[in-house]
Amino acid sequence: CLQQIAEMSKATVHMKDPEHLEQILESIKDSGPNTLQVISDFDMTLTRFAYNGKRCPTSHNVLDNSKLISKTCQAEMKNLLNTYYPIEIDSTRSIEEKLPLMVEWWTKVHNLLIEQKIRKDQLTAVVKESNVILREGYQLFFHHLHELDIPLLIFSAGVGDVLEEVIRQAGVLHPNVKVFSNYMDFDESGVLQDFKGELIHVYNKREGALLNTQHFQEIQSRHNVMLLGDSLGDLTMADGVQDLQNILKIGYLNDKVEERKQSYLDSYDIVLERDESMDVNSLLREIR
Ligand code: C5P
Ligand code: MG
Repeated sequence: CLQQIAEMSKATVHMKDPEHLEQILESIKDSGPNTLQVISDFDMTLTRFAYNGKRCPTSHNVLDNSKLISKTCQAEMKNLLNTYYPIEIDSTRSIEEKLPLMVEWWTKVHNLLIEQKIRKDQLTAVVKESNVILREGYQLFFHHLHELDIPLLIFSAGVGDVLEEVIRQAGVLHPNVKVFSNYMDFDESGVLQDFKGELIHVYNKREGALLNTQHFQEIQSRHNVMLLGDSLGDLTMADGVQDLQNILKIGYLNDKVEERKQSYLDSYDIVLERDESMDVNSLLREIR
C-alpha cells in the first residue's frame, strides 16, 4: 500500500527498507487504532525548522528572543547556542561524549532564565509574538489522533510551559495530548524560581521514558508505536513501552543533511529530508 500513497513518493522522503516498512504498516493497520500510540518530539519535529529560508525558534528560543530577557542575557544565550548546538548535531562525536556537554548547556541556560525573573503571566504574549510555527498539516494530524482517541505523547527537551502554549494557541491541545518536558516552577507570586523534576535534554530521553512508568501504565494496552523525531536522541523515546509489537520511526533530517543522512537512514524507517510537512498524515489515514 505504500506505493499508493502519493506523499511517500516525494523526493524528500527516503526509506532504507520499504518492504520492512510495508510490513510494519500493514501489521499496525490490522491491529487497528486502539492499539496505537504516537510518541513525538516537539521542537523541529512538530514545529517547523525553517520558513521562507529563515530558521524558526525552538521553545527555548521563544524565550531567548523575547522581551523578557535582557540584552546581555540574550547575548550569553546566543553564545551558548553557538557553542553547544554544533556539538548536539556533530556526527563525529559519540552520544557518551555529548552527554555531559548537553547537561552543561541546559543547566547554564536554565540558570540564566531563572535569573531573568520571568513571570508566568507573560508567557502567553511571548508565544503570540514569536515566530514559532507548527508544521504544515498539523491540524489534520492533531484532529485525526483526537478523533480516533490515539494518545499523543510529546516528549520534549524544550520548555513545557512554552510548547503547551504553542499548541494551545494553535487550537489543538486536545485531551489525548500528554506532554513530558522541562516545566517551570513558579513561586507564589508567579515568578520563575526553578525547573521541576529531572532535567530532560536531547540525549537522556530514554531515562525519562523509563521513569514515566506510571504514565505508561495508562496506555499499556497500546503495543504499537509511531515515533516522530528530529534527533538521534529521539529514537529512545519509546523505550518505556511494555511489550512493544511494532514501531514505525519517522525522522526529520533538518540540518547537516549530507553528513547525517546515512545515520538517519540506518535508524529511522522513514527520513524526511528538509521537509516542512506533516505528511505522516498520509500514513495515519491508513490506520482507521
Ligand atoms: O523538543 P526537543 O526535545 O526537540 O527540544 C530540544 C531542542 O531544543 C534541541 O534540538 C536543542 O537544539 C534546542 N535547544 C535550544 N536552546 C537551548 C537548549 C536546547 O534551542 N537552550
Ligand atoms: Mg527536536
